[in-house]
Parts: sequence; structure tokens; C-alpha cells
Amino acid sequence: MLNFDVAIVGSGLAGLSTAIKLADDKKIAIISKRTLSESSSQWAQGGIAASVSSVDSTEAHVNDTIVAGAGLCDESVTKFVTANSASALNWLTKMGVNFTKQANTSELHLTKEGGHSHRRIAHVADTTGSAIQSALIEKVNNHPNITIFEDHIAVDLITNKKLKIIKTEKNICLGLYVLENTSGKVVTIQADVTVLATGGASKVYLYTTNPDVSTGDGISMAWRSGCRVANMEFVQFHPTCLYHPHEKSFLISEVLRGEGGILKLPNNKPFMHLYDIRGDLAPRDVVARAIDFEMKKRGIECVYLDISHKSKKFIMEHFPMIYERCLSLNIDISKDPIPVVPAAHYSCGGVMTDFNAQTDVDNLYAVGEAAYTGLHGANRLASNSLLECLVFSDAAVSHIVAKHKAHREILPRWDASRVTDADEEVLITHTWNELRRFMWNYVGIVRTNKRLSRAMHRIDMLRDEVNEFYTNFKISNNLIELRNLLQVAELIVKSAISRKESRGLHFSKDFPETSNKKYITILEPANFVGAIEKKHTIKKEKSTSIG
Ligand code: FAD
Ligand code: SIN
Repeated sequence: MLNFDVAIVGSGLAGLSTAIKLADDKKIAIISKRTLSESSSQWAQGGIAASVSSVDSTEAHVNDTIVAGAGLCDESVTKFVTANSASALNWLTKMGVNFTKQANTSELHLTKEGGHSHRRIAHVADTTGSAIQSALIEKVNNHPNITIFEDHIAVDLITNKKLKIIKTEKNICLGLYVLENTSGKVVTIQADVTVLATGGASKVYLYTTNPDVSTGDGISMAWRSGCRVANMEFVQFHPTCLYHPHEKSFLISEVLRGEGGILKLPNNKPFMHLYDIRGDLAPRDVVARAIDFEMKKRGIECVYLDISHKSKKFIMEHFPMIYERCLSLNIDISKDPIPVVPAAHYSCGGVMTDFNAQTDVDNLYAVGEAAYTGLHGANRLASNSLLECLVFSDAAVSHIVAKHKAHREILPRWDASRVTDADEEVLITHTWNELRRFMWNYVGIVRTNKRLSRAMHRIDMLRDEVNEFYTNFKISNNLIELRNLLQVAELIVKSAISRKESRGLHFSKDFPETSNKKYITILEPANFVGAIEKKHTIKKEKSTSIG
């Protein structure tokens, strides 16, 4: 058993920033299921929203966030996050991130995206995420108090309720089990505090802009440990993922539209002005739905994003990475329109947290895309996510430093004595593909009651299969991810079924109107006690929407 003050699961912006801010005071473990850099954070293009220009204001940023969030943003959280945007940028600059400046000045170049009333996106050309990750990875690699576990996947959290070892009514997180991918061994990590920074769950859909690691592991682990989750139905589909047979997950940044790019039909005609007064820069839910509608109506496979009216110099200066990547696929964006389709991009819902990033379980925090803080409401405003990671990692760190003391417990080892090697690993891949396909077909941009109940029916059937696998066979990275994806799919579908209206990212043909009543969807695990048993059997959880 290994002991740490704080175990952080995930090495995107949420995990790395939490680790760096804590490391002078605490002994930290960072657990990451692939390499440190593999994350959505690494792939972020547009940038980080911050109301720092002289013509902008926190009030305008709050207002834009709330308008995009279709009335479901928590106003106090929105004020808290936006008010801290300048300090978040300063921290990144201090860490060595060199944001793009206006030509020949030291002033930040601020770009624009859909739903923003001002230019307020600080960026490093079109590779903001990789610039941030490189700077932070260098810091964690060189800190003596940080131990890094790459290629280690967190399997489940250990709580007193599951183990029944500490007699208290409280549900307390004591650490976690972690599978070392290369050896197949499960390590027990005892930690005074555990932070879930595991990112989103967009891999539950067939088409996504996300990296393979976005399988909702943190949300599922927290749920199995007794945490409530909220607003899982609000899955953000980014309007412009590249449509190309050899490049399934490549995002074409919204900043292309912020800097003048125009969405067009195959006949070269713009169409967004027909859907929204804000045209190509309407919030994402509106643009994604408009594209989906046009594609279905016309039976076309994609629409086009055209920036070829801008000079090649401008394009190369603002979008060097997108230009190169498209050119490698024989698309010269300075001459040709780019074929694009919507794809699952961001989980607005997640593990419910408070202002300190604390979850319902003591000593367990959630930061970043895995968390539901109330900031994004029914639709996230572009570039608010990196900001949220930084503001809530600060909040978590202050709380952890002020509140937590060492509490060493002896935790039981993982028991794999009664499981065998999987006879047919390929079944896991089949189930994974099936799940992602029906989630895309039945729980996508436009939903109906019938499709949602079909999806639920399939989830019920797959749950039995996956439970059988998990109960009888040695765990593997793929099996852990599949189990978590299935759990997240269930949470998304249950939340979607319980919302009897259309709002933001959730559009139902059966309930096309937006209700006057504003509510968040909260799912509460009814039966989370005793989930770790000898053969690591999963118990069925019952969920109730108390929206
Ligand atoms: P991630 O960065 O996704 O990191 C999750 C980490 O957890 C990874 O290291 C992963 O390996 C690890 N992990 C997961 N499960 C486990 C497990 N079981 N065990 C161990 N490790 C685990 N937002 C913006 O604000 N601005 C942008 O410009 C922007 N552009 C984007 C572009 C793309 C292509 C994508 C996909 C997203 C973009 N977003 C953007 C959204 C934003 O990048 C993410 O929401 C944000 O980076 C999430 O950070 P995170 O640290 O919470 O999660
Ligand atoms: C983009 O660059 O279009 C992505 C920005 C975001 O998801 O916030």
C-alpha cells in the first residue's frame, strides 16, 4: 500500500494545476491512465475566456455565460469564476505560458468565439492546450513532492462505507485502487484527500472531438461511491469537427468563425443567418442543431466552414496547426472550404461540487470537466472550461490546505483470487462499439421519448453482460473504461428522460418548448454501500431524478 497526502486522478489542466498549487505543502500522487499529456486539455485550441480588455467587464462575461447556459447557470458560481479570470491568466503566465500578443506590443491578443459579446479569449495561436500542458508538465516533473503514475488507471474509490471499517455515519474517501496497465497489478493508494480530475465522458458517443481517455471514469467512480451527479443530459456537441475518413476527432476551432469563417451548404450558400440573429457566432447548441437539421433535410454528409476569403498570411498566423493538419489531408484552408460535422465535445454535467470543489463524500473533491459546479447551465460558453479548471483548482487547494490532517488507515488489498483471464477480450470491444453507436443514434443532438427508451433498454441489457465480465474476469483498462462508459450512458439517458422540455443542449421533439420552471437534474445513488466485494461485484444502483 502506498501513502500520500493527496491523490490526484488525472493530468489535464484540472489535475496538474491542483498538483502544482498543493505540492509545496503536501505529498502528492498524480495518477494518469496514459501519458501525462494525453487529455482534452492538451487538445484545447481556442483558448481561455477572461474579461481583461478595457472595453470588457466581468458583468458582460457573466451575462454571456448565463445567456449561453439557457437560464440554468448558477449565478453566484458564474460571478465567482469570471471574477477570477484575470488571476487565472496571471497564474498561467507565471507558469511560463506565453500567450499570443498583439503585433509589436506586449498586450494580449484576444480572440472571439460564439456567444461572447467581446473579444476575450486569450490563446497561444491555435495550440493553447498543448502550450499550457507543456509548461505544467515541466513543473510537475521537477517537483520533489510529486510522484507520477503514468499508465495507471484508477479502478474505484475506497470509502469507509464500502469497507465498513470506520463506524461513522459520514461517507469518507480513504483512497483508491489503481491498475498498473503494463503489469496488470492493482495497487492500493491510501490518501488523506482524493481529487477527481478525470475530465469528461464524450467517448460515450461514436463521433467525438475528445481523446480516448474521456470515458467518464471519475463521474462513474464518484457515483458508485455515493456522490450525486447533475445535468448529465447536457452533452455539448461542437458544431465543427473535421469530416474526413482518416481524421475522426479533429476539431476545427470555433475561433475560425470568431475571426470571420462562414458556415456554408454544399452549394456554397451561407445558412446560419436563417437560424439565429447572431449567425455563425450563435451559441454552440444553436449552431450544432442548425447543421444537424440541414444535414438531415438535405441528406448531406457534412457542411462546410469557409475562411478562404482571408489572406493566407492571416490564416497561417492565427491557425498554423489547423492549416498544417488540414493540408496534410489535402485540404488547403486558404483556398478550400473545410468539410465539418457536429461531434460530442463536452460534458456540462458531472459530479456535484460546492464552492470548495468538495463532493458529497468527505475528503473527495472533483475539479474540471468531471465536476458539475453550476457554471455551464444547459450549454457551456466557449472557452469557459479551462477557466473553470483553474478557478476551482484554486478553491480546492485552499480548502484542502486549511482543513485536512493526516489520517492513516490500513486498507485491504484488491482481491483478484477468484477471477480468471478474459477468454474473449474482443467482446469488450464489440460492446463498446455498440454502446457508442446507439448513444449517437438515440441520444444525440435531437432526442425523442421513443429513442431514449430504446437506448435505456439496450443499456439494461449491456449492464448484465458487463457485470458478468467485471465479476468473473481480471480487470483491464478496456473493461474498466467500458464499465464506466456504460454507467455514464445510463446517467445521461436517465437525466434526458426526466427532462420534459427542450433547453440548451437538450432538444426533444416530444417536448419542443422551454418550460417556465427552471431546474437542474440531480441523480442520487440509492444504493452505494458495499460495492467492493470479494469478486469486486457491482451492485445495481437505482437512480432518482429529484429535479
Ligand atoms: P482532461 O484534460 O480531459 O484530463 C483528464 C485526465 O484524467 C487525463 O489525464 C486522463 O488520462 C485522466 N484520467 C481519466 N480517467 C482516469 C482514470 N480512471 N485513471 C487515471 N487517469 C484518468 N475548453 C476551453 O476552455 N477552451 C478551449 O479552447 C477548448 N478547446 C477544446 C478542444 C478540444 C479538441 C477538446 C476535446 C476540448 C476543448 N475544450 C476547451 C474543453 C477543455 O479542453 C476540457 O474541458 C478541459 O481541458 C478539461 O480538463 P480536465 O483537466 O478536467 O480533463
Ligand atoms: C474551440 O476552439 O472551438 C473549442 C473551444 C471550447 O470548447 O471551449
